[in-house]
Amino acid sequence: MRLEGKVALVTGGASGIGEATLHKLAREGAQVVVADINDDDARRVAAEIEDVGGSATAVKVDVAVYEQVEAAVQHAVETFGKLDVIFNNAGIAGGKPLLEHDPSVDYEPMIAVDQTGVYYGILAAGRQFVRQGTPGVIISTSSIYGEQAAELAFTYSAAKAAVISFTRSAAYELAGHGIRCVAITPGRVGTPIIQQFDDDLKATFAAEQLRDRLTEPDEIANVVAFLASDEANVINGTVVHVDDGYSV
Ligand code: NAI
Repeated sequence: MRLEGKVALVTGGASGIGEATLHKLAREGAQVVVADINDDDARRVAAEIEDVGGSATAVKVDVAVYEQVEAAVQHAVETFGKLDVIFNNAGIAGGKPLLEHDPSVDYEPMIAVDQTGVYYGILAAGRQFVRQGTPGVIISTSSIYGEQAAELAFTYSAAKAAVISFTRSAAYELAGHGIRCVAITPGRVGTPIIQQFDDDLKATFAAEQLRDRLTEPDEIANVVAFLASDEANVINGTVVHVDDGYSV
């Protein structure tokens, strides 16, 4: 129970990595806020956590709208009295060859969610931690593509690189308030983002990781729970690679 007494908010909590992480954080004793644009599944996840004895609430949020992110943070405070951890994890994937881009379709929406959404999460949670006068942890989901170029990932890579940059700068700016910031870079995780593809493509993705297997969402969740805990107290302003060797 490494997170006993902590309150954690996870964006993109209604599916995949976020959902698995919420279950893990709750098992570690945290009270959790399931924040997602998909309201129905956010409520489902919160109910499933409560069914097994955890403490959870759901809130609808579009991370691309600052007022909604701020309201989600306030929902955490109104429900559980404070906020200790935010996991900025909501994201959308996909991409086209650069020269086929329509900026309003292939650039702006993804930057709004995957990049600006993380900025808003850092800003809203950072402000709340400072208001509370307590230390806080900000974990954000980047990607292997945040550190390297890849086919059909022009916009996604840019947004995920920004997540790493935000994490470094936020750690630098917020350390004086006792706030720690960490980015994670998953490789190929078996969530709906990957499961939508056919078996051949999934096998190709698996083969990109050193042990020829997709990562399970629970395996990412285990790392996030560690990073959220005081055991990770010296991990700050950096990137934790959770890619099973993809990037070696
Ligand atoms: P997922 O599709 O299972 O979950 C993403 C969640 O984000 C969904 O519940 C969705 O409703 C929510 N979401 C989308 N737009 C939103 C918005 N505007 N506001 C609030 N919520 C929104 O995907 P997965 O795989 O769990 O992805 C989680 C994060 O991990 C994403 O940031 C993704 O880019 C990143 N990632 C995933 C990898 C993978 O192989 N699955 C690899 C590297 C990074």
